Amino acid sequence: MCKVKRRSSFKTFVAGCCFLFALLPVVAGAQLKNIYSQKDLFHPVLAQNGMVASQEATATQIGVEILQKGGNAIDAAVAVELALTVTLPRAGNIGGGGFMLVHLAETGKTVAIDYRETAPAKAGRDMFLDKEGKVDRDLLESHPLSVGVPGTIAGLALAHKSFGSLPWKELLQPAIRLAERGIPVTRDHVFTLLKGRERLHKWPETRRTYYKPDGSVYRVGERLVLKDLAKTFRILAEQGPSAFYEGDLARKIVRFMESHGGIMSLEDLKNYRAVIREPVRGTYRGYQVFGMPPPSSGGVHVIQMLNILEGLPIGESGHNSAQTLHWITEAMRRAFADRSKHLGDNDFLKVPVSGLTSKAYAEELRRTIEPQRATLSSDLGPGDPFPYESDETTHFSIIDRQGNVVSNTTTLNFSFGSGIVVPGTGILLNNEMDCFSAKAGIPNAYGLLGGEANAVAPNKRPLSSMSPTLVLKDGKPFLITGSPGGPRLISAVLLQIIHVIDHGLNIAEATNAPRIHHQWRPDKLRVERDLNPDTRRLLEERGHQVTIANSIGSTQSILKTPTGLTGASDPRRPGALTMGY
Ligand code: GLY
Repeated sequence: MCKVKRRSSFKTFVAGCCFLFALLPVVAGAQLKNIYSQKDLFHPVLAQNGMVASQEATATQIGVEILQKGGNAIDAAVAVELALTVTLPRAGNIGGGGFMLVHLAETGKTVAIDYRETAPAKAGRDMFLDKEGKVDRDLLESHPLSVGVPGTIAGLALAHKSFGSLPWKELLQPAIRLAERGIPVTRDHVFTLLKGRERLHKWPETRRTYYKPDGSVYRVGERLVLKDLAKTFRILAEQGPSAFYEGDLARKIVRFMESHGGIMSLEDLKNYRAVIREPVRGTYRGYQVFGMPPPSSGGVHVIQMLNILEGLPIGESGHNSAQTLHWITEAMRRAFADRSKHLGDNDFLKVPVSGLTSKAYAEELRRTIEPQRATLSSDLGPGDPFPYESDETTHFSIIDRQGNVVSNTTTLNFSFGSGIVVPGTGILLNNEMDCFSAKAGIPNAYGLLGGEANAVAPNKRPLSSMSPTLVLKDGKPFLITGSPGGPRLISAVLLQIIHVIDHGLNIAEATNAPRIHHQWRPDKLRVERDLNPDTRRLLEERGHQVTIANSIGSTQSILKTPTGLTGASDPRRPGALTMGY
């Protein structure tokens, strides 16, 4: 109880929401054992067989239902992602893209599925610059030109074809039902629709889809029915995933693009491919860490930062102490400086992955860290890893009874992406082109600097921060985690790993612990409001420019412990739920 009281009122409010969500299966009459409750804010959900942690309660419940009826983690992932399209449209999607790590219990193998959007074939490096050479934010963020070729359906289809066990058609059914019958509008939904009203009203079909006929926002508890989306799901169920990329759905997407100044073509859709890649790998204090390779920057930099920190006595310096946070900040500063120069789509340039993730390079960077003094970002640039070179988003985590794992992060980029719903389909499109560097040296919407490596080019994938992560212990799943939050999600994932491995926090404590984020430029150490003020002062005395951040990330994590599976959904954003059985 004391612990709960010490949290900010927001977290207490959200804990209340968690309690209400905990009642959801009971209200729905479902046969699921849900052991999440208010007192669980600092105690994880505990289960023995399988577990799903996602940002939205109904989607989590659907995932557990799939597991309970004999589907594996990959089947559950397909159903959860499709359900999120209905229940969490600001991030869940079939019009965006993402990254999925899959670990297979039988072979012990881990693979990375890249279903990131691609730039259309007619895209060019200066397509977002106006006559004066300035970046045109509207084109980049809320225009048909901002849309990358969607990868989600191709990614889910590839995961399912390669590793799924239940029929594809069956996995579409929960999403069809949800979209057809409608979902009760939540406070979170109302909030995001109010916040996004101006952008979303710009497009008549989006306004028609998500708002009442008079343009007002639905009230909490009213039903939002998505008939066109249900029809699209039915087409995908009956005709298979290729129906998204060829045929009527594709024609509707392209017709809209052509009549509104877009450049995406039928060829772009037909040529889109999700790709199975080798994950990036690292080790941290005896654990094996798997992350997403480029075009994600997350996997590389989580491993790079862990390598830097491995040589420092983080465990002894104490959980969230000023000394620990100083070291973590300096690791973040150096990794994000490298991100600005070296990261992009590996299919288009040589990203120095093995250099960036090498222990030797980390040691070189570690030597530049002063133990008591912040490095000024202006005194630091991207490093040179080559000598060591041998050659608004949402996350869910799933583990099944056999020990198969999915760690999946997916995004439309902004909340509701470009804000464009394709007429007659219910498909909400991403604005992932914003993740390219529209102009070298000009920060994107997340304040991230990028360079040549991430310039726009035809068919290229824009750089991402998404970092679905899997940590193994002795080759077996240990921690499954990930988060939304643009570049801040990389920090959230790093901190989850450190909180658990270095400080022995349980997964709920780790999830609730105050977070920090530094991305090199701007030279600001963002800390959450409930980081101890004394610690903030000590960090400032070391030269860090500390600013208060509202919240950093929203992790959905599962941790395997000797007593069983434990899991926790982040209370920073409402509506999330972890459930096990
Ligand atoms: N859309 C944000 C990212 O991919 O990092």
